[in-house]
Amino acid sequence: LRAKYLEQIGAAPDAAALEGVRLAALGKKGEIALKMRELGQMSAEERQAAGPALNGLKSEIDAALKARKSALEDAALDARLKTEWLDVTLPGRPRPTGSIHPISQVMEELTAIFADMGFAVAEGPQVESDWFNFDALNIAPEHPARQEHDTFFMHRAEGDDRPPHVLRTHTSPVQIRAMQAQGAPIRVIAPGRVYRMDMDQTHTPMFHQVEGLAIDRDISMAQLKWTLEEFCRAFFELDEVELRFRASHFPFTEPSAEVDIRCSWDNGQLKLGEGNDWLEILGSGMVHPHVLRAGGIDPDQWQGFAFGMGIDRIAMLKYGIPDLRAFFESDLRWLRHYGFAA
Ligand code: PHE
Repeated sequence: LRAKYLEQIGAAPDAAALEGVRLAALGKKGEIALKMRELGQMSAEERQAAGPALNGLKSEIDAALKARKSALEDAALDARLKTEWLDVTLPGRPRPTGSIHPISQVMEELTAIFADMGFAVAEGPQVESDWFNFDALNIAPEHPARQEHDTFFMHRAEGDDRPPHVLRTHTSPVQIRAMQAQGAPIRVIAPGRVYRMDMDQTHTPMFHQVEGLAIDRDISMAQLKWTLEEFCRAFFELDEVELRFRASHFPFTEPSAEVDIRCSWDNGQLKLGEGNDWLEILGSGMVHPHVLRAGGIDPDQWQGFAFGMGIDRIAMLKYGIPDLRAFFESDLRWLRHYGFAA
């Protein structure tokens, strides 16, 4: 009996099995209890020999059960410690962090600079009607500017003869929307995406412009010049800027000027603010009377200046980036190189 139970106790794999052994041996109907009961039928001498032997066996089994129980508990604790351990000396795992895209950063910067000069932000849709993108801006249907814009056209249903919508080719339609929405006076900029079918080192089919529009009782080119100089000084972080207004032509401004910034090329290294070269940065002019009228504003009462600037282009100039396409390739090595990602 002793050998049998000691062996079963030693072999019990877990607490449940051990309890089974305990019941079989020491339970009310267990084998030892039965033997104890048999003592009653024995003679006094027999009982004197068997009684202590049975009691000894009982406490021996009891002790073995307790020992096995705590051994099993120790083993279970060991197993848990093995799976749950934590090496606090391991270096932390780096978590990938995002950062603001350079174009978005530049948009936020220029919005803040113009906000300081009293310009609010206006918006318009990227899928624009033909009228807002062209007609209202004094670009008649046969006007050559329509071809020059390399426009993406949306499809009309079969039999629908209305002119198709376009992906806006510039932010200038927002001029009209702002005039219609708020009337004069106006001071807004309109940063956003524009689209033209073009793709090379300095052109992508989608790019960004910021439009500027100021309308008031006596707005002149002088205020346009001051506004653009202030902007360039702040944006390019220069003490002095010199801008050159070169006579040009846009259907929606009269007179029109393309604006160049003084710069130098030193061993292929562009330096803004000084030197003997000029770099074109934007188009501008006084808002054409036809355009004011299309926006519901009386040109006899109000004048305005407007400008349009390529955001990607000024970002390239500020950060010395040679290839525009890189902005849209999400190449982390490139972003890191220019300090745009951690
Ligand atoms: N819309 C013109 C362009 O995309 C830029 C411009 C805006 C010129 C406003 C004059 C006034 O080239």
